[in-house]
Amino acid sequence: MKPSIMFAALSILFLVAGSSYAGQAGQEFQPQVGQEGKDVIWVPTPQALVDKMLDMAKVTPKDYVIDLGSGDGRTVITAAKRGSKALGIEYNPDMVELSTRNAAKEGVSDKASFVKADLFESDFSQAQVITMFLLPDINIRLRPKILDLKPGTRIVSNSFTMGDWSSDETAEVKEGCVSYCTAHLWIVPAKVQGSWQTSRGELTLKQTYQMLTGTLNSGTTSAAIVNGKLTGDQISFSAGGVEYSGRVSGSAMEGAAKGGGSWKATRAGK
Ligand SMILES: C[S@@+](CC[C@H](N)C(=O)[O-])C[C@H]1O[C@@H](n2cnc3c(N)ncnc32)[C@H](O)[C@@H]1O
Repeated sequence: MKPSIMFAALSILFLVAGSSYAGQAGQEFQPQVGQEGKDVIWVPTPQALVDKMLDMAKVTPKDYVIDLGSGDGRTVITAAKRGSKALGIEYNPDMVELSTRNAAKEGVSDKASFVKADLFESDFSQAQVITMFLLPDINIRLRPKILDLKPGTRIVSNSFTMGDWSSDETAEVKEGCVSYCTAHLWIVPAKVQGSWQTSRGELTLKQTYQMLTGTLNSGTTSAAIVNGKLTGDQISFSAGGVEYSGRVSGSAMEGAAKGGGSWKATRAGK
């Protein structure tokens, strides 16, 4: 055997033996892809997709980012490197320690922190951005809590969807990613279902997540709501050939009508 090949083979043997020795001797914890987790096994998000997820959520230093089930901390650490404060919620205490060490190695301990907790029992209402790589049924279990978050909160999920709540954006990473390369973004919509008194007549809205249908009634005319959509607290729809856009703020809305003029609405009933 050529010496170079012998060296490569021995290096691999040494590395393999070294890592299992570390595990056996109870020294630094070595995570194993596929290891058991409380509700989901650990599989890390490819770094290229972590970057894409944070891009889709338009993470800025003003955001507080929370990763639900944070694994080795890579998403939290990447967000912290972008200047955001970020928190990882992780049930496995070894992974919490590992991610805390990883954050220190990357020099972001001041912005990245980790807590050993069950994501189902955690309060994540302060986040502007939530990231996750869980499972479809877990996403659906979390959905009511997510829909109660502040309108405009961005949720990004690696691969798994949110049942019949369609994403606002879905993207796939092709470079530097072999598996689990799709990200979905949802923006928590304001709650507008019900009737509203507007300067243009009585507006009745039926809301399915971010999609809106309904009518705008003025005198004897009734116009169907077309292309009704919410993006966080931003509302847009057409009625009677007029395009409306505006902002929802609790029980009031106001905005502009394309072609001129403004409009206002106040809640008249649920
Ligand atoms: C698929 S991994 C994703 C890790 C990381 N978010 C990433 O994208 O690289 C899921 C993680 O959730 C953790 N986990 C599972 N059930 C949990 C629970 N109920 N509360 C908190 N963490 C949990 C697992 O230990 C695992 O680290």
